[in-house]
Amino acid sequence: MDAASAPLLALSGIALAFTFALLHFYPRHRHDSFALSYPPGPKSPSMPSLDAWVQYQEWGREYDLVYIREHNMLIINDVHAAIDLLDKRARIYSDRASTHSIQLCGADTLIPLQRYSDRWRRNRRLFQQNFRQSASSRFYPAQYMKIHQFLRRMTAVPEEFMQHTMSLSQGLIFASLYGIDFGSEDPLSRKAVELVELVGKAMLQPFPIIEQFPWLRFMPSWFPGFGFQEIANKCVQCIKEVDTIPFDKAVNNLKMGTSTSLIAELALESEGKPAEIEMIKAMGTISFIAGGDTTMSSISSFLLAMTQHPDVQSKARAEIDRVIGRDRLPTFEDRSSLPYVESIYREVMRMHPPVPLGLFHLSTEDDFYRGYHIPKGCTVVANIWAMNRDPNTYPEPDKFIPERFLDSPSGPFMHINSVNAFGFGRRVCAGRHMAENTVWLTIASVLATLDLRKTHDNEGNEVAIPGEFTRHFFRHPMPYRSSITPRDLQAQELISATDAVYSEFK
Ligand code: HEM
Repeated sequence: MDAASAPLLALSGIALAFTFALLHFYPRHRHDSFALSYPPGPKSPSMPSLDAWVQYQEWGREYDLVYIREHNMLIINDVHAAIDLLDKRARIYSDRASTHSIQLCGADTLIPLQRYSDRWRRNRRLFQQNFRQSASSRFYPAQYMKIHQFLRRMTAVPEEFMQHTMSLSQGLIFASLYGIDFGSEDPLSRKAVELVELVGKAMLQPFPIIEQFPWLRFMPSWFPGFGFQEIANKCVQCIKEVDTIPFDKAVNNLKMGTSTSLIAELALESEGKPAEIEMIKAMGTISFIAGGDTTMSSISSFLLAMTQHPDVQSKARAEIDRVIGRDRLPTFEDRSSLPYVESIYREVMRMHPPVPLGLFHLSTEDDFYRGYHIPKGCTVVANIWAMNRDPNTYPEPDKFIPERFLDSPSGPFMHINSVNAFGFGRRVCAGRHMAENTVWLTIASVLATLDLRKTHDNEGNEVAIPGEFTRHFFRHPMPYRSSITPRDLQAQELISATDAVYSEFK
């Protein structure tokens, strides 16, 4: 070998070695990097069952994105990541897990629990057409009627304020969709409440034996250990009744010329099309399940916050008196003129999201984000609680400070998409315009007419408010004692006068 060819040979040797290394190590290296590039997270943690959002928030302080490998679960604590994944990559992150228990209970007919499929798209489209912002004024008459009835009940039997809040939230769905004013004591209302519980159970506590051995669903319910069949059958029966009873009544009312309603009109348009009739019925049922407890939670959180913050009440009242005066109740047209009332609404929804972890999304493809691999089939949890308590966006996040919205550069009148409490992406709450209108009008009407304070015991001592909330999937205030009175005689007269306006609904 001559001197000139030696470097060439050395170079070829290096190139060969490099190619060899590339061929042999790159695939392994690539494989390792795949394995290593899952988002970080705690190792084999015990998953919290109470206030899970608080523990998830804690993990979020340690890790950018939190990945629980044992459960293939990604927890998102920051709103930018939620928007990047659930909104901008909605094509991948819009599925839901469907368990055998949900199917056994017949709850897979309900939109929130449906897979991301053509069936879901058809159901969602129907919802969208009837609950979009431009259609939401259709519900105004029922909202005025039920909210004014709520004010009358609050002054007549104030100590039952929690029941009144529940009756308002549930009754509003029936009144808005079916044009029927079912009382909370009506058997149908009770049935619907039972259904909410049963669906909640099917969703949150799947029957373990059925999840493992789905074929066992054919065993009779009297067989030892198969009591879940009874729960499942009850749920199926309950869905059928809540689907059918108010639907039939509403259609009958329309045919008899007694009253009209959204559901009855849709049903008439779809006469002879059984698949569409089933969708219309399911829309009514899920409105009750998804809209009752959530709306109740937001209104209850508002009442609690006002009892704890009389200064906020006074400020809001001053704004209402200045803008509206004292001789009428607030209307939807007043909303854009009441920035402080708007800020209270925003602060309630920020501090007290009724479903702090939203409904879990499921990914349908492998994905990469912030340098991490997010596997297909990953359960994605948007921790709304943590997002709404990000101290960079909301200084002193655990304090109720409506002024934070009033003073922010964008002001309090932000797009509904910025209310994280309603979730994200294509699975965002389908009833959010209706919900927002109900909560806002209740807030404005209560502030205009009622005075909420702490109460006193027989010895004249102030009764403390523990300010406790339920700690499971739905979050709402626990019962407490307070004083609720009309602001003054003028307010009482305004409330009483509403009785005559809606007498035709009784
Ligand atoms: C303050 C009241 C309410 C709150 C805070 C709320 C919140 C939510 C949240 C967090 C989700 C899950 C979103 C996601 O997956 O990212 C959701 C879904 C849903 N909500 Fe609401 N909701 C409220 C009221 C209502 C009302 C009044 C209705 C119906 C009349 C309704 C109907 C639905 C439906 C149908 C879904 C399922 C959407 C889907 O999976 O495609 N909600 N809601």
